[in-house]
Amino acid sequence: MNGNGLTGMLAGEEMLILKPSASTQLRLVIWKIPARDEGMRTPVLTALTSQTPMDEITVCGWVRTRRDAKSFSFLEINDGSCLRGIQAVIDAGIPGSGGLAQMTTGASVEVTGRLVASQGAGQSWEVQATRVTLLGPADETYPLQKKGHTLEFLREIAHLRPRSNLFGAAFRVRSRMAYAVHNFFQERGFVNVHTPMITASDCEGAGEMFRVTTLPPGSADRPEEDFFGKPAYLTVSGQLQAETLACALGKVYTFGPTFRAENSNTSRHAAEFWMIEPEQAFCDLSGNMDLAEAQLKHQVRDALEHCAEDLAFFSKYVDKGLVERLKFVAERPFQRVSYTEAVQLLEQSGVTFEYPVQYGLNLQSGHERWLTEQHFQCPVIVFNYPKEIKPFYMRQNEDGLTVAAMDVLVPGIGEIIGGSQREERPERLAAAMAHHGLSEADYWWYADLRKYGTVPHAGYGMGFERLLMFVTGLGNIRDVIPFARTPGHAGF
Ligand code: 4AD
Ligand code: MG
Repeated sequence: MNGNGLTGMLAGEEMLILKPSASTQLRLVIWKIPARDEGMRTPVLTALTSQTPMDEITVCGWVRTRRDAKSFSFLEINDGSCLRGIQAVIDAGIPGSGGLAQMTTGASVEVTGRLVASQGAGQSWEVQATRVTLLGPADETYPLQKKGHTLEFLREIAHLRPRSNLFGAAFRVRSRMAYAVHNFFQERGFVNVHTPMITASDCEGAGEMFRVTTLPPGSADRPEEDFFGKPAYLTVSGQLQAETLACALGKVYTFGPTFRAENSNTSRHAAEFWMIEPEQAFCDLSGNMDLAEAQLKHQVRDALEHCAEDLAFFSKYVDKGLVERLKFVAERPFQRVSYTEAVQLLEQSGVTFEYPVQYGLNLQSGHERWLTEQHFQCPVIVFNYPKEIKPFYMRQNEDGLTVAAMDVLVPGIGEIIGGSQREERPERLAAAMAHHGLSEADYWWYADLRKYGTVPHAGYGMGFERLLMFVTGLGNIRDVIPFARTPGHAGF
């Protein structure tokens, strides 16, 4: 008990303090106090953002650099909690300093000491060590020596590249963006649903699925003898299942791994990527576009607010205009243009594109980028595509030619989101399935949604790695996912 209320220590790092509030009712406040006990470490981020000096902290991490003076050494230690490392001053003769020679770049160390104001430029705090321990040495073969490395080289050492500044930043931003996805949808009352990774249906109808089988290699292909009694695949989209949940829970989203066996070796395609797929009942294409725009802006604002240090790094070393562009995107309304208008703009552009522009053909990445980068110079939503180039589930428009599809295009990437209003009319859906050669027997459950209490509904898929490329300015999808799976590459 003290004068203000009741004070007691909880296990671990937390201190529980009960304070009478102005209304004399007891208010519960939980303070995080810095870890001081032996064996408990303080993250470098916590130390660097401390408001006060601390008598004793323990920092653990990997040595970035060591500089030796006559009677002391400087170790710069990074632990991944933030971009910056903390400087530790190791006086000759303190316990453990005998191991200093082995505390080279890449070695792991534990340093205990006082957190004091730093004399060095550009850093507020440093650790004046009282004890240092070498946890694990790293010899001169450690591949991440001080010199700069190419992204290509770093991909070859995917197990160590997270220790570099660039990849540490990329994966912290990835974590924050995943959190922001959940925040965005949870705050709006969307229910997070988990759709299966193994499926028997090809949602996109593009035939780009990985087969899942337990049939021994070389055996006759008899799907009826296979594990599921029929051909099964890794999912290309959770949409069809998400639709069933939206038609019960109203607003849902699924966010998980997605697999596509498309053999396109581009900087924007991965064989395994993560997709965010919201689906809303009682929603049309225009509501869907509004949601997509709001979500993309939310992600960008969240990154600007919570990943400022990492984004500043990307702005400096990867993409000079990044932060300015993100601010601009967060503010400005997206342009909306129909596919027909987009094709006219492309035809009138006077530009010779690698692939022809013609009504009825898919927009290629070069076309998409011209629209968003050159013409509109901001994110663009293209809607109402010809039905021939879109999957069976999209709602047919009254013109008989187009479907209520939408793609969101952003500068530097092209398509980041693809979605549509879904065909909710049973006869129209049956006709579209027949047109696409799909058997009603396989999709009976999907058709049932139209049979029992059908509702207008809409949704989209946002490629999570495309979002990360947009937010970090990194130009290759292989660099925003820890272990990229692309044609010919499944190492690590
Ligand atoms: O446009 P897509 O193919 O749409 C669908 O799969 C819908 N079923 C989504 C829905 O309406 N629920 O894919 C959606 C997004 C693309 O815009 C792109 O950002 C990303 O997923 N994407 C890929 N990202 C990385 N690698 C690939 N191979 C990708 N294919 C699609
Ligand atoms: Mg698409």
